[in-house]
Amino acid sequence: MSFAPDSAAWKALQEHYDAQMKQAKMRELFASDPARFDKFSLGFESKLLLDFSKNIATDETMRLLRALAAEADVSGWTRRMFAGEKINNTEGRAVLHVALRNRASTPIIVDGADVMPGVNEVLAKMEAFVNKVHAGEWKGYTGKPITDVVNIGIGGSDLGPVMVTEALKNYSNRALKVHFVSNVDGTHIAETVPLPAESTLFIVASKTFTTQETMTNAHSAKAWFLASGAPEGAVAAHFVALSTNEQGCKAFGIDPGNMFGFWDWVGGRYSLWSAIGLPIALALGWANYSALLDGAHAMDQHFLSAPAEHNLPLTLALLGVWYNNFFGAETHAILPYDQYMHRFAAYFQQGDMESNGKYVRRDGSIVTASTGPVIWGEPGTNGQHAFYQLIHQGTKLIPCDFFAPAQTQNPIGEHHPILLSNFFAQTEALMQGKSLEDVKGELAASGKGAEEIAALAPHKVFEGNKPTNSILVEKLDPRTLGAVIAMYEHKIFAQGIIWGINSFDQWGVELGKALAKAILPELGGDAPVSSHDASTNGLINWYKAHR
Ligand code: F6P
Repeated sequence: MSFAPDSAAWKALQEHYDAQMKQAKMRELFASDPARFDKFSLGFESKLLLDFSKNIATDETMRLLRALAAEADVSGWTRRMFAGEKINNTEGRAVLHVALRNRASTPIIVDGADVMPGVNEVLAKMEAFVNKVHAGEWKGYTGKPITDVVNIGIGGSDLGPVMVTEALKNYSNRALKVHFVSNVDGTHIAETVPLPAESTLFIVASKTFTTQETMTNAHSAKAWFLASGAPEGAVAAHFVALSTNEQGCKAFGIDPGNMFGFWDWVGGRYSLWSAIGLPIALALGWANYSALLDGAHAMDQHFLSAPAEHNLPLTLALLGVWYNNFFGAETHAILPYDQYMHRFAAYFQQGDMESNGKYVRRDGSIVTASTGPVIWGEPGTNGQHAFYQLIHQGTKLIPCDFFAPAQTQNPIGEHHPILLSNFFAQTEALMQGKSLEDVKGELAASGKGAEEIAALAPHKVFEGNKPTNSILVEKLDPRTLGAVIAMYEHKIFAQGIIWGINSFDQWGVELGKALAKAILPELGGDAPVSSHDASTNGLINWYKAHR
């Protein structure tokens, strides 16, 4: 198979871009087509609307982009992923986060065995545990019910649970406080404890159970717990593990009965649907966690079966490729107009950048096209007062996803209409811009003289034509959030297929980990270090002199 940008579909897109779209203006596209919004918007379960009409794209663009997806066989790869084929070729693993939320329990076979009974068994164990904690039946060593949960994990074993518990905070059992410790900086654990040790439950969340940061924090948590006066035998009631590594959990002192397992075919950044979701379920209760899985499953079915022109994740993926590879956009902003979603962009920084930050294709050859963009973002309206200046008037093209719920969960005065007026205004402003003529007219109307108008006017012009997707949901409830997360997961998957890369390994994080292991022993003692390059030696030696 030919890879982008050598393929016929890619070349057709390049020609289309050069001949027509490079200079195209969205204002004109809207003016020439009154049905543009209807044609360039998609719904999902009548609870979610994706408006992609404010993109520099025509019917022809979308047709050519869909041809690119067809040529890359996105739908074939999708079927292979859902069927449990080992599409993570560099690790020889299946990619089955979809099995974790396969609510129909249709068999998915890996290495000759159906994975679904195991999935459902762990879900049942999680449910029983959550219900026991919520009922006050899971007791601490002095007989007190649990009041505080501390999840210790990093990367995929932290970001998903943090993001979802924040996004669905209003659905949480606020009597049970769930805390997260991820950073190996001792400040993180120090500022999280002290807590009432007798009623605190620690969750050690690590797929491998070898991650340096998590194991360091877990050992410090255990030391703190024992130092609080708890006997060694109390560890079993206060420490549970979420992991694929049973031996490691046992070695730490965790009762295998208190271990919630998962499998090598669950990628870290796709693991909130697995046992790694336990802190979410503890925070939200089992019914809400189940609804999250239901929503993701519904989006999975949509992605698997909806035709390309109705397929939400594919549409987002194709528009992303359009800007990334033809307009040369380097970054993509995710801008939720919902304070509950304040960790959403951070979550998909890992989801997208660890997945598609690759320069080598599946077959080992070097890519010849740009791959995953830099993902970033903050909630609106805060971002408006920070970095939107550059999106509006900077020299870089930054495609943005705007997200907002139609219904607020905190109806206070005019807050929500004010928030949403900003949401609507920003994408309109980014698309329409403001012409020099209009600026001059405004300045003249405000009484400015000709000289001042000439000096000021260029600074006040907005070129517009900045592309945005708008995603509106009826309400940010667990089912909807599950669907939205799955939508982005599949977007990332489809892009990885088009770029010909494996989105499911992360070798790029290994080198730094290995070097840190080598440096750690060198930090002891006072002897100067000389085994590295001059900069690294200099930094280490300055540290030693100043600690
Ligand atoms: O940073 C690399 C990584 O392997 C991520 O992919 C993963 O989410 C994170 O570390 C944590 O890994 P683990 O769950 O094994 O502790």
